[in-house]
Amino acid sequence: MFIKKRWVFLLFALFILFLILLYIKPFKKSNVSFNFNPMHTEDTFSKNAEFVDTKGTFYDAYKKQSKYVSRKWEQYLHIYDKAFAPFISYNKPVTALEIGVENGGFLQIMSDYLPKGSQIIGLDIDERCANLHFDNNIKLFIGDATDKKIIEKYFSNMKFDIIIDDASHINSDVIKTFKELFPKLNYGGVYIVEDTHTSYWDWYPEIGGGFKKEGSMIEYFKSLIDSLHFLYIKDFPSSLSADKINELKNYNQEIASITFYDSVVIVEKYYNKKERRFKNYYTKGEALIESRFRKPPDIECTKDSKFEKYYR
Ligand SMILES: C[S@@+](CC[C@H](N)C(=O)[O-])C[C@H]1O[C@@H](n2cnc3c(N)ncnc32)[C@H](O)[C@@H]1O
Repeated sequence: MFIKKRWVFLLFALFILFLILLYIKPFKKSNVSFNFNPMHTEDTFSKNAEFVDTKGTFYDAYKKQSKYVSRKWEQYLHIYDKAFAPFISYNKPVTALEIGVENGGFLQIMSDYLPKGSQIIGLDIDERCANLHFDNNIKLFIGDATDKKIIEKYFSNMKFDIIIDDASHINSDVIKTFKELFPKLNYGGVYIVEDTHTSYWDWYPEIGGGFKKEGSMIEYFKSLIDSLHFLYIKDFPSSLSADKINELKNYNQEIASITFYDSVVIVEKYYNKKERRFKNYYTKGEALIESRFRKPPDIECTKDSKFEKYYR
């Protein structure tokens, strides 16, 4: 009888120990875990996922946000971490514009995350946004981002280092706004378009999306890849309008890169306006192999050569 009691006690103690270990484990993990779904209590990420240290990342700033709501897809938090990294490492105040503000949470997150002294501007068509209250470095305007007059009214003397379009996601609006606002981006700045998946939505006719649909934002941004290579094109097809050729030519001096992510496009402006073809640099030294297409070198890359900065 006595032996039986001991066994019951031992089993009970083991069960309690098991419960304690179960309770402690998530705490151990939480230092380094990446909860991909901050809006919900449960972690929707797979159990086998690689956990990363989020200290100091954009995700951390997003997780800390508590005053006004922001809603973003999980991959955007990684994308913003990368896109903002140069501004964080330069540690100089920047000016950021978000169009499509809704509850205003993202303005506050940018204010917390970007270097001290940064100016954060929001523009939303919804008049209810006027009831949001922010610190002095955050300003909010009410108006339609696709309206040229509104842009001129509020931003005629302004330039931005970061522009984010999270507004209507209607394809024609996104393209129109980009054409209007990209000139307001500083050299070295980034223009970020969110929710580019609506480019493929053909079930809401007003969105204007569809796979490879002419006039969709993805097709538009794809077409701008040609602007990067404008100076290497000899003959343009007659199907390309003079306006489009001109647009590609102008963007050739401005667009440093176009990055496509799942649902986000980022267009980066050169750090300096590109007013000439890039030079072909050669180091000093012996060349045993002649390139088939070799022309006389443009410039020798020595420590005395002038080196202009074009990329952040
Ligand atoms: C997806 S919500 C923005 C979410 C917000 N950026 C966030 O992080 O939580 C879209 C917002 O865009 C605004 N919007 C829609 N069309 C607009 C336009 N043409 N100009 C300015 N804002 C617009 C809507 O009123 C809405 O508040």
